Amino acid sequence: MLIAQVSDLHVCAPGQLANGVVDTNAMARAGLRAVAALQPRPDALLLSGDLVETGGAASYAHLLELLAPIDLPLYPVAGNHDEREALAEAFGGRAGPHTARLPGFWQYAASLGPLRLLVLDTVVPRQGHGALCARRLDWLDQRLAEDATPTVVAMHHPPFATGIGHMDAMGLLDGAEALEAIVRRHGHVQAILCGHLHRGIQVRFGGTVASVCPSTAHQIALNLLQSSADGYVMEPPAFQLHLWHGGRLVSHTVPIGDFGGTQPFA
Ligand SMILES: [Fe+2]
Ligand SMILES: [Fe+2]
Repeated sequence: MLIAQVSDLHVCAPGQLANGVVDTNAMARAGLRAVAALQPRPDALLLSGDLVETGGAASYAHLLELLAPIDLPLYPVAGNHDEREALAEAFGGRAGPHTARLPGFWQYAASLGPLRLLVLDTVVPRQGHGALCARRLDWLDQRLAEDATPTVVAMHHPPFATGIGHMDAMGLLDGAEALEAIVRRHGHVQAILCGHLHRGIQVRFGGTVASVCPSTAHQIALNLLQSSADGYVMEPPAFQLHLWHGGRLVSHTVPIGDFGGTQPFA
């Protein structure tokens, strides 16, 4: 089982730039082209939120157009730039087979062969930060209790502080501690895969590994000074590949770009 993860595509309506500057559409196209060319072919594509820059049908229609060449089951996650209803509408017939949708949220379970995927909805409408309320947390607890299959949890807002001050201020501000307690009780959670931070980040969390996938577009500047200064940098975009291998989830980060072919060692 090989899961590709792309994150924070921030796709705009055709011809528009994110932040007035970043051609997220072209960058998403390049990232998805790289995913489509992978050998071996992944079994699923996880999209960990901020799929579009500003919610709305035109952006999602463009996103689906960019995703058209991807012949894989798609597992979208809602981020703070997404609109839950517009996302659900756009992916209604396009999301991979899933069950146990939590009414009112974009939160669901999916069976990926030897793995189970549980997608959480951390969205607080019209806010940058995220939250997990009792209903969403209870749903997770129940899903984990009912099935001991090795499980991957996906969510947009990382449930931990990263040391990048302005992003932590708009992190998962509610429910992270309760989430950690739930995950700690269920030893079969193999990883918690996140987005939102636009950088590669890993941490130990609730006895498992939580990580952030870089963005296919701009990256958040690495500012550990805890100052309020925020900003983005055009560091290389990337996606991730999570390989279920030898009873472990092995995560690889793949830069997006043309770096030449593989060279033989002398
Ligand atoms: Fe983002
Ligand atoms: Fe985000």
